[in-house]
Amino acid sequence: MSALRAAPGVFELQRSSSFQEPQALQPQYTLAEEDDSVAQGAAPQEESEFEEEVDESVREDMRKLEDTFPGISDRFRLVNRIGEGTFSTVYKAEDLHYDHYQNDWDIFDKAQQDTYDSPPSKRRRVQGDSSGRKKARFVALKKIYVTSSPLRIQNELELLHDLRGCGSVCPLITAFRYQDQVVAVLPYFPHTDFRIQYRTFMVADMRHYLRSLMTALNSVHEHDILHRDIKPTNFLYNPDLKEGVLVDFGLAERQGSEYTSPCLCTHQNYVRRSRILSSYYSKNPPSSGLSAGYPQKDSRPSRRANRAGTRGFRAPEVLFKCTSQTTKIDMWSVGVILLTLLGRRFPFFNSADDIDAMIEMSSIFGTRRMKTAGAMHGQIFETNIPTIGEKGYSWEKLVKWSSCVEDLTESEEQATRLLSGLMELDPSKRLSAAEALQHEFFTNPIHHDVEWGGNPEESADSAEEDEGEDEADEVAML
Ligand SMILES: Nc1ncnc2c1ncn2[C@@H]1O[C@H](COP(=O)(O)OP(=O)(O)O)[C@@H](O)[C@H]1O
Ligand SMILES: [Mg+2]
Repeated sequence: MSALRAAPGVFELQRSSSFQEPQALQPQYTLAEEDDSVAQGAAPQEESEFEEEVDESVREDMRKLEDTFPGISDRFRLVNRIGEGTFSTVYKAEDLHYDHYQNDWDIFDKAQQDTYDSPPSKRRRVQGDSSGRKKARFVALKKIYVTSSPLRIQNELELLHDLRGCGSVCPLITAFRYQDQVVAVLPYFPHTDFRIQYRTFMVADMRHYLRSLMTALNSVHEHDILHRDIKPTNFLYNPDLKEGVLVDFGLAERQGSEYTSPCLCTHQNYVRRSRILSSYYSKNPPSSGLSAGYPQKDSRPSRRANRAGTRGFRAPEVLFKCTSQTTKIDMWSVGVILLTLLGRRFPFFNSADDIDAMIEMSSIFGTRRMKTAGAMHGQIFETNIPTIGEKGYSWEKLVKWSSCVEDLTESEEQATRLLSGLMELDPSKRLSAAEALQHEFFTNPIHHDVEWGGNPEESADSAEEDEGEDEADEVAML
C-alpha cells in the first residue's frame, strides 16, 4: 500500500482512518487567491513558498535526507527546515501526492474555508488555478533522530494514532521507516512564534489561545494520555484562525503506565498523616540536633519517578517525584503559559535544575504551602534560604509585579482567577481541562481589555538569546 513507490526497505505505517487508496480525483474546491492571504503572517502564499529563502546548510541537510531516504523525493518536495528539537528535525515539504488521497486530516484547509467563507464565484478547483498551476499542499516531515529508542518512537506514533480526530491535536497522516530512520508525516500548520506574539496578546487573545489548547488537552486527557511536555513550542497557534494544534507526543504516556508503587498522594488523608507521623523525620525533627542538608549515608531506597518534561513547565508533583502522576501535570504547564502571558515574561521560570525550580516555586507559594505539598507525596520540604517567606504571595500581586502595572483590568483579574485554579500545588484540587473550559473566563468572559504598550520586536530580540533553553529533558527516572 505504500505510496512511496517500491523503494526496497522503506516501510510505511498504515494510514489512519483517513486513509483511502489513491482514488480518482474528486472535484474539490478551495479559496480564491485573495482569500489565501487571510491567514497571513502565517498562511503560506503559494507564490512566496516557491521563493522561500533557504540557507545553504539547510539545503545540504535536506539533500542528505533525500539521499538517505530512498523514494522520499518522489513523494515530497522539501521546502525548508522549520524546527530542530532535542529529538527530531522538522521540515516543511510539499505533498506531491496530495490529490491521490482523501485528506480528511486537512482540518486547516477546512478551518480556513469555514472561517473565511467566500462567495462561490471566487472559488476554483483544487487541481489548479486559472494559470493551470497546482495549489501547493504542505506537510511537516518530522525526522526522528536515530538515537531515539524504537520504543519511544513507537509510543509517539501509537499515541498520535489513538488521538486521530481529536480537535486541536495535530493529526498523524502517515509515517515511513527506512532502516533505522523514521519520518512522521503531519499536516503543516502555519503558526506564529510565541516569543513574538506573547507580549502583545490582549486578554481576548489569551482566551482564544487557551480555549484551543484546553480543547486539545481535554481530548488527550479523555484518552487517559498525559502529554508531559506542554509549552508554547509544542502548541502551534495561528492568531488569525484563533486556533492552534498540539504537537510533539514524544514524551507522552498513558496514565498509570509507569510500573511503580502508588504515591502517598493516592491514599486517604488519615493514612498519609499516620505515615508521616511514623517517619524518621517526624521522630527526629531538626530541632533535636539534625542539621539541614543531605544525610551523608542515606540508607533509604532511592525513589524513582518520571520527571521528563521541560524546565520551568514541570508541575510540583513532578519535582516531588510523585509516582502517581496524572493528566493534571499538563494543567500546571498550561498555568505557566497563562502566567507568561499575563506577566508578560518569557520564560517566566528560568531554573537551571529541579532544585532551582523548587526554589522559584517556594518564593511564590512560601514554605508553609510547599511543606504541605511535599508531604502529600511523602517528601520533606526544608529550606534555610532567608528570602523565602512562610506565606508566599497571591497570584494577583505576582501578575501585577511581573507586568509592571499597579492595577489589573477586570478581564485580567478574571484570567488571574483561572490562573490560580491551574497553578494549584495539590493536583487533586487543580482544574482539569474539562473544568477549566467551564470556568467563567470562558463561559462568562469580561471584555475589558486595555491595549498593552509592549514592543513585540524587543521581546523577540531578547528571547532569541534564550533559544534552545526550553528544550525538553530526556526521560528522567531518578
Ligand atoms: N505540523 C507542523 N506544522 C508546522 N510546524 C511544525 C509542525 N510540527 C512541528 N513543527 C515545528 O517543529 C518544531 C519541533 O517539532 P516537535 O514535534 O515539537 O519536535 P521535538 O520533539 O524535536 O521538539 C515545533 O516547535 C514547530 O516549530
Ligand atoms: Mg517539541
